[in-house]
Amino acid sequence: MEKFVINGGVPLKGEVEISGAKNAAVAILPATILAAGKCVVENLPAISDVDVSLHILQALGAQIRLLNRNTYEIDTTFMTGTEVPDDLSRQMRASYYFLGALLSRFGRAQVAMPGGCNLGPRPIDQHLKAFSALGAADSVDYGMISVRGKELTGAHVFFDKVSVGATINGMLSAVMAQGQTVLENCAKEPHVVDLANFLNMCGADVRGAGTDVIKVRGVQRMHGCTYSIIPDQIEAGSYMVAAAATGGDVLIKNVIPKHLEPITAKLVMAGAEVQELDDAVRVSRTGEIRPIKINTMPHPGFPTDMQPLMSVMLSVADGTSTVTEGIWDNRFRYVDELTKMGANIQVDGQVAVIEGVPELMPAPLRASDLRAGAALVVAALMANGTSEIDEISHIERGYERIVEKLEALGADIRRVERNPAALSQAL
Ligand code: EPU
Repeated sequence: MEKFVINGGVPLKGEVEISGAKNAAVAILPATILAAGKCVVENLPAISDVDVSLHILQALGAQIRLLNRNTYEIDTTFMTGTEVPDDLSRQMRASYYFLGALLSRFGRAQVAMPGGCNLGPRPIDQHLKAFSALGAADSVDYGMISVRGKELTGAHVFFDKVSVGATINGMLSAVMAQGQTVLENCAKEPHVVDLANFLNMCGADVRGAGTDVIKVRGVQRMHGCTYSIIPDQIEAGSYMVAAAATGGDVLIKNVIPKHLEPITAKLVMAGAEVQELDDAVRVSRTGEIRPIKINTMPHPGFPTDMQPLMSVMLSVADGTSTVTEGIWDNRFRYVDELTKMGANIQVDGQVAVIEGVPELMPAPLRASDLRAGAALVVAALMANGTSEIDEISHIERGYERIVEKLEALGADIRRVERNPAALSQAL
């Protein structure tokens, strides 16, 4: 029942430090199961999806020690559990990574159908295709997915669809299989590469991550390591858009500029200035926002997770933009909220035509999912006046200390806890 209250119209100015990547963290935490030893994982973002992953590990029997806010020691040596508690697995999408990791170490796993953002159908047939090629059997019963396979054997897997999740589960399940596994038509996202690097630090033999073909030579044992997670590409992109959309000037620190190139290219086309430094980017805008075309695609294309944020900025461009969503069926749910703010957006299937309006107006808003929620935060920062955003738990799944970071950039944003007692007295 918490909400954000944002007084918009202020250009963001200053510096912001980017946290570790959510989508790498939620893959690397389950991967510590394979190490069967102590792992120290650094640069973990303090977000609720990481909390849920840690709770799952603990429920399965891992020993977990907090070393500092973003560093945990995880010891899976004496872990025995193979069934992920339902209530936890339903809280986030990435709980499916426990299937690959548990299958690899214990030969069996059970996970409830994962939760996460509602972006349309989110099948896992390609994950199961990889498990089955390695010799595991699967069954889905009353919302529970079970996989079993004592002696996994390396295989050739051609993914019918480029899938981040299936590529990651393919690697997790193959690292200790007998012989070599070749995964083809793989996702190339930075977090896929980060997981491969982590697995290799733990003694695995994974080659080719970041290309279409990943080769995994099975090893008999893996061990613990100390590993620092890469910076979050989408969190960085979100602050880049927020800087450009508010006509601000922000130095975004602790990033890998190469990972941001697809976002940088579109921001520059839309009229922002982006200066790339060693491990930072500086984003500013003084001129008009120009209309552009965006087509979301797997990496290195323009990331779908940035689509709602860019659309918000384009809603005040000087002309007509088109945004085509190429990954998810249902990723324009934030458009109704933007319409309340005066935006002029027509959605037809997977294409949104955005007719730029002079400005957005403040409104009461509701976050329907993580990135839609972040996009509404940017919209509220752009609008002159006070907007309120409900259902912010979606946003807090993926953005560490968003209120503090935005406040440091001069934003007027408050997180308001609704008091249920006061609410019922008022009714
Ligand atoms: N797909 C299948 N079969 C499968 C798996 C996927 O048909 O077995 C389809 C999906 O329906 C979709 C496409 O393939 O149309 C791509 O899905 P993918 O598997 O790549 O997505 P994911 O692994 O479930 C991750 C991120 C998402 C991000 C997508 C695309 C995590 C935990 N989630 O999801 O991130 O949108 O890749 O880049 O890594 C977010 O962070 O807000 C978020 C939703």
